[in-house]
Amino acid sequence: MRISVIGCGYLGAVHAASLVELGHEVVGVDVDERKVASLRQGRSPFYEPGFQDLLSQSLKSGRLAFSTDVAVAAGARVHFICVGTPQKHGEYAADLRFVQAAAESLLLVVEPGDVVVGKSTVPVGTAAGLSQMFAEKVPGTLLAWNPEFLREGFAVRDTLHPDRLVYGVEQASEADPAAAVLDEVYARILARGVPKVVTDYATAEMVKTAANSFLATKISFINAMAELCEATGADVKQLADAIGYDERIGRRFLNAGLGFGGGCLPKDIRAFMARAGELGADQALTFLREVDSINMRRRIRMVELAREVCDGSLLGKRVAVLGAAFKPDSDDIRDSPALNVAQQLQLQGAVVRVTDPAAIENSRREWPHLDYATTPEEAAEGADAVLVLTEWKQYRELDPVAFGEVVRQKRVLDGRNALSRTAWTEAGWTYRALGRRAG
Ligand code: UGA
Repeated sequence: MRISVIGCGYLGAVHAASLVELGHEVVGVDVDERKVASLRQGRSPFYEPGFQDLLSQSLKSGRLAFSTDVAVAAGARVHFICVGTPQKHGEYAADLRFVQAAAESLLLVVEPGDVVVGKSTVPVGTAAGLSQMFAEKVPGTLLAWNPEFLREGFAVRDTLHPDRLVYGVEQASEADPAAAVLDEVYARILARGVPKVVTDYATAEMVKTAANSFLATKISFINAMAELCEATGADVKQLADAIGYDERIGRRFLNAGLGFGGGCLPKDIRAFMARAGELGADQALTFLREVDSINMRRRIRMVELAREVCDGSLLGKRVAVLGAAFKPDSDDIRDSPALNVAQQLQLQGAVVRVTDPAAIENSRREWPHLDYATTPEEAAEGADAVLVLTEWKQYRELDPVAFGEVVRQKRVLDGRNALSRTAWTEAGWTYRALGRRAG
């Protein structure tokens, strides 16, 4: 099937290449010339494990092309909208400018019978509005909402092996012609028995924001427990292990630490609250405000902990920050808790050096006033404290004995509860972590 993908960021680029892998012929469209040039040359514009290979393979097949001109989408039967929906400046609501622009650009190319499929995370009600727009301007066009649940760092695997498919279609049933077209698009995935939910637009839109809100709530729940552990001397890691054995609770997404960041969870819970307010149902989501503030408090606590271990003052103290990306295996620094802490430390007078295996270039562009180092050893040279704020494998596997040679003071703050407390304390380090006793 000929398919177009509008928007070639983390979501769109991976989706486009994955559709080729699923047997289709795909054109990816993006307004960013540099991104398109890079994708055309088979170079991934972002760090995402497995994507580089998938991109090269898909390009080699001759069934993948990229362009800045939406005209190349003409003749495709399905058009995916994969653009970003960031938080609006100065408010909680989602900025739908890019979705609107993508949909309007598609008006120039769609033909009756084509299916426009939204994958972007949007406030409930968006799909119904777009469906009406297409029905008026190009009668006979079909619209579906097909949310994406991929995680950065696992984007390729999550796209090719999703745990479910969700179609929001006008008739809210399998009988909808758009559902049949999506079945063709995902035939190879469906053949593996992956569950599918066919529903109305509003439910499909809400599935995505509800899923992200649940995940954010789970993380903030365990971080609230971490606050209590700090007050009582209990250990949040053991607490998470113990409650996580209960299958109804589950251990995943119960890692206490610096909390959630990135381009999705923080802005999605805020946009969800804003939309609930518009719909007069704000009370239903007031708990998300607490989820948000528990999350933000962790960053402040991390800075306090750093001050504590630096004998009560950060002024002039050398602090190494290991990790800049919002999570490991990504170069994404959007709302990165690690960079947020690094900046607070610097503003409070510490001499901060940040390192990251993949995100330094992005960090330097966005936050040029921070000091960067290429290796953990370089970052930690002469340091009074080392903060591990993104749990990259390289940092989890650091040898505390050898690493101890580099620093001035052996003090480590494990912002992600990812290091072995025993190994670090045995090597003579003062070990501190959120929600755990000092080691
Ligand atoms: C999230 C969802 O997990 C995806 O399902 C969704 O498709 C995506 O948003 C999206 O909306 O596009 P992602 O933002 O890539 O994916 O990252 P997550 O793995 O969810 O992690 C988010 C943040 O939570 C990270 O900062 C991570 O460090 C933090 N986290 C995660 C914790 O603090 N504790 C945990 O136990 C798990």
